[in-house]
Amino acid sequence: MNPLPGFRDFYPETLAVRRHIFDKWRDVARRYGFREYDGPPLEPLELYTQKSGDEIVGQLFNFVDKGERAVALRPEMTPTLARMVGPHHRDYKKPIKWFAIPQLFRYEKQQRGRLREHFQFNADIIGETDVSADAELIALAIDTLRSFGLTKDDFVVRVSDRLAWQRHLAATGITGEQQYAAFQAIDKLEREPEDKTREKLAAIGLSPSQIGEILDIARGGTVAVAPELDLVCLKLGSLFEYCQVDFKIVRGLAYYTGIVWEIHDRKGELRAIAGGGRYDNLLKQVSGVDLPALGFGMGDVVLGELLKDRGLLPKADWGLDCYVVIADEGLRAEALKLIHQLRDEGIAVDYAFTETKVGKQFQAASACGARYALVIGPDEWKSGEVKLKNLATGEERRLPAGAMELKGYIVERAIL
Ligand code: HAM
Repeated sequence: MNPLPGFRDFYPETLAVRRHIFDKWRDVARRYGFREYDGPPLEPLELYTQKSGDEIVGQLFNFVDKGERAVALRPEMTPTLARMVGPHHRDYKKPIKWFAIPQLFRYEKQQRGRLREHFQFNADIIGETDVSADAELIALAIDTLRSFGLTKDDFVVRVSDRLAWQRHLAATGITGEQQYAAFQAIDKLEREPEDKTREKLAAIGLSPSQIGEILDIARGGTVAVAPELDLVCLKLGSLFEYCQVDFKIVRGLAYYTGIVWEIHDRKGELRAIAGGGRYDNLLKQVSGVDLPALGFGMGDVVLGELLKDRGLLPKADWGLDCYVVIADEGLRAEALKLIHQLRDEGIAVDYAFTETKVGKQFQAASACGARYALVIGPDEWKSGEVKLKNLATGEERRLPAGAMELKGYIVERAIL
């Protein structure tokens, strides 16, 4: 039986890639002073139906549970965060800077870079209106990608401003539901033929001249006034070389209210690597507490593909320090005692469960990626010693057969 379409099995090799990605995400979040949180993977359905917008609601994995509750697997983390922070915000100094790595579920159309589950690095700031916070989050996302070895030749941050768009559309008489429908159409511009976008805009009642103007702006024009956008670009300083202003970016989710941005691969071959922005009204809608907020999400799927394409995924390191080669079966009991002592000292040790030829044990040692082979043979053992061999360099040395002494050599890697 296979996993469901769009769901992944994580064999050790793919889990090692996932761990590599998570480790970098956590490390960069820590460097920026963010704290990790989490929430439940199953939430009340209504958390999403009003706030996230039609697109994501159409992709929900939802059902009625045995207690007659309408529930949904979380398709994104932001509503959970808004729900969690509201009632407890007084316990935390502002700005609140939190991150999470939730697994999310969306019933998406199958395509490259989009699955039905993914892990998403979320970093959010709550309680700060200043655009410095918008710039800080963009910087965090850029540094996250840099930490994997990606450069400005690999990706670009496309920055825009939904508030500026809103002001502009309102000035031409496009407001409310019509405005939101227009954003939905603009968000899809790059994934749909232009005729389809025109049709959609016409269907919501826009005139040909209104449609023409929207398309001109998206194609590289600009809205009349976007002071926050200018400021955030300024604040980015030298990091601005990673960015470009791009009014095609409006974001599909309903709750964004200000600066919005997405990160794409430079060649434009893949779906978005990350996306986010300011959502100053969501906390009020979800929890009744009026706090400004902003954040972004970066998925593991597109990022993993990009790293693979660029040869930036490290070889899996299983973290095994040493493989004990039992060269004389008569010494097995003594060997097991030493193995246990080494493990107690925090050293990762493996060995063969049954009598095995020495050559085979060395093969097993290499195959499992051990750094050292520790040979327990009769000659050395008589004089209270063992042989430690560095499997990368081939160097070997006789050492006292005590766990503490061996630990010094194995951990410090100083001698061999
Ligand atoms: P989003 O644009 O829906 O935003 O998702 C953010 C990122 O998650 C995408 O750029 C992509 O890398 C990844 N992603 C989304 N859906 C899938 C999928 N089906 N398969 C694989 N990867 C996917 C949000 O979810 C917002 N809640 C982000 C946010 C946080 N905004 C403010 N704070």
